[in-house]
Amino acid sequence: MNRYSRILGTGSYLPEKVLTNRELEDLVDTSDQWIRERTGIRERHLVSEGETCSGLAEAAARRALAAAELEPDQIDLLIVATTTPDQVFPSTACLLQHRLGIGGFAAFDIQAVCTGFVYALSVADKFIRSGTHRCALVVGSETMSRIVNWQDRATCVLFGDGAGAVVLGAAEEPGILSTHLSADGAYKDLLQVPSGVGMGRCEDPYIEMRGNEVFRMAVTTLGRIVDETLAANRLSKSDIDWLVPHQANIRIIRATAKKLNLPMERVVVTVGEHGNTSSASIPLALDTAVRDGRIQRGETLIMEAFGGGFTWGSVLVRY
Ligand code: ACO
Repeated sequence: MNRYSRILGTGSYLPEKVLTNRELEDLVDTSDQWIRERTGIRERHLVSEGETCSGLAEAAARRALAAAELEPDQIDLLIVATTTPDQVFPSTACLLQHRLGIGGFAAFDIQAVCTGFVYALSVADKFIRSGTHRCALVVGSETMSRIVNWQDRATCVLFGDGAGAVVLGAAEEPGILSTHLSADGAYKDLLQVPSGVGMGRCEDPYIEMRGNEVFRMAVTTLGRIVDETLAANRLSKSDIDWLVPHQANIRIIRATAKKLNLPMERVVVTVGEHGNTSSASIPLALDTAVRDGRIQRGETLIMEAFGGGFTWGSVLVRY
């Protein structure tokens, strides 16, 4: 009998503090109109002092577990995708495991920047399909505001904080239909935080981005991965019910929707209220559309992301 994985429950969490475009006008030389027209972003949530990546992850994870009607001790695999861990080590996954009061099974982080959740879901799917694990908690959690240079108008308007989670369980029917991961380290100079232990400095770890070039690569690459995903499953564009994209920029999202011939009503868009929450953005968007009743059981969703590395990937899901 084939063994598959399927999403049993979703959850998400946003910190209470909201920063609007108008408030950003007081910080840097920008305007609400510029930000909305170029990115679609109106506001974003930010952590306050004392809030951590593992704390956001815990809140999202508990909601996903409740939606799946499972207790934390029924989990046997925990993966956290994050670019902004609480500390160098232990991993945020280990910190989350402890917060949830569980232990004694595999827990680790995945670092693939904005594609992190797609990578994490793919890895969890493969663990479950191999038969070694039955129930995975997969979380994307970020405190991007802590690696943003709040004096750089080209990047500080783009990012936000939050977390999203799914519980993935073993199933006889898919579930996850296919996953597609890729990366190319040759583009590191276009999008990076040039700071870290190996560089001998950890101070001022700020995002640097050549936005225009990233934008062009993202649109081209996401168009290609969508085609590859459909071809691998012998599906046509009309078989897709929902696009649940990484939320970086409404113009990138519109370009991918056009590639799929999907009207924007079939695209989950949260970038306006969340900004770019990196690895948290897809599970945040998924949970939003599951809870408001748009995404229904049995529908086919494509999730896709592009981010620093460059990394990119997609997951095709029968929800
Ligand atoms: N407010 C006002 N003006 C601004 C701002 C701002 N916040 N930021 C930049 N500008 C100015 C620039 O200085 C430039 O001025 P100039 O023409 O006088 O030189 C002008 O606006 C145009 O700048 P561009 O960078 O060409 O603007 P663009 O249309 O490309 O939009 C943006 C910039 C929104 C960043 C876009 O390039 C983008 O979304 N890129 C992709 C970002 C992304 O998807 N990242 C994904 C991964 S993120 C991750 O992995 C962590």
